[in-house]
Amino acid sequence: MARHVTAIYPGSFDPITYGHLDLIERGSKIFDHLIVSVLLNPDKQPLFSVQERVEMLTEVTQQWSNVSVDTFDGLLVDYAVRKQAHVILRGIRAISDYEYELQMALMNRKMDSSLETVFMMPAVAYTFLSSRLVREVCQLGGNVKGLVPPQVEERLRAKVE
Ligand code: PNS
Repeated sequence: MARHVTAIYPGSFDPITYGHLDLIERGSKIFDHLIVSVLLNPDKQPLFSVQERVEMLTEVTQQWSNVSVDTFDGLLVDYAVRKQAHVILRGIRAISDYEYELQMALMNRKMDSSLETVFMMPAVAYTFLSSRLVREVCQLGGNVKGLVPPQVEERLRAKVE
């Protein structure tokens, strides 16, 4: 039976890095439809607004026709039901990511056993990369060339100027 598999790649994406993009490309090859979805989190003080993050994500994922960009709030498992998605995609860079990711995956499974979390590893070159470090390096005047797409680099520079 032919199946159409929709996966959700959830996150803060504040901002999107080449590590995220690497995972999106890998995910787009495996799943029929990949929804990159930004969490609307009122508790966090992001550098970029949700609208800015969605704009950046939309710009840098244009090349993949089966990738779309969205936002969500509330529980991820409820959002997955609304989107008829059966897979959550998450990236694991190092062992240090594993504990947090395992907790989330198992909690999500406890709430919805039909939802499967799939972990993928980004290219080795991006294993040290995180949005938090990109923000920090940029805010302190460092160079983030090669870590984020040029459009994102430009917006980062505009933020800290
Ligand atoms: O990029 P991040 O900040 O590591 O992403 C975390 C995210 C968005 C995947 C996680 O915080 C999440 O799914 N939040 C939605 C609320 C929810 O479902 N919480 C229970 C998770 S077990």
